[in-house]
Amino acid sequence: MKSNAGGCVVWVTGLSGAGKTTLAENACRYFKDHSKRVEHLDGDRIRKTFPTGFSHEERDEHILRVGRMASGLEREGILVFASFISPYQMARDKVRQMCSRFIEVYVNTPLEECERRDDKGLYKKARLGEIKNFTGISDPYEPPVKPDVVISTVGCSPQESCDQLINSLLRIFELRKN
Ligand code: ADX
Repeated sequence: MKSNAGGCVVWVTGLSGAGKTTLAENACRYFKDHSKRVEHLDGDRIRKTFPTGFSHEERDEHILRVGRMASGLEREGILVFASFISPYQMARDKVRQMCSRFIEVYVNTPLEECERRDDKGLYKKARLGEIKNFTGISDPYEPPVKPDVVISTVGCSPQESCDQLINSLLRIFELRKN
């Protein structure tokens, strides 16, 4: 019989530039170093494999596809980090329902801060109307209603935010006796 012991989906949501990828990469490294089987599915990278648009419908379809992938990996006993804007609560809830163990992590960096960082220059383009359906500017972002973990990236160093995430996950795993 297959065992999914150790399997879990950690779903990291937040605006573009909130710090999702960095947080997920760091947490992945930590759990890999502690002998967990880990996989990281990340928005920008997955979109290279499965190109799609940014309409509500396209995003939902994409998130459900990624959710199915994550849940399949979870069943194999893998700790999956999924970092996607995933702006719609209903799609995130559907993914939660697909998984046995699901942890919703909200990276709550405010829009003003993401726009100030603008690492990829996309906010500037969105403000100029050069990118359509841009989350936070011309498209909505629905913050999680009941996130399992909330991470702030303002007023603390990236290392402190990463530690916050890892410690929160360790506490949840302990509570759920993973
Ligand atoms: S999601 O909404 O479908 O979950 P996803 O996380 O896969 O988004 O991809 C987001 C990344 O695509 C952003 O970090 C940014 O680099 C890029 N991007 C390009 N166009 C847009 C847009 N219109 N809205 C949001 N992100 C965009």
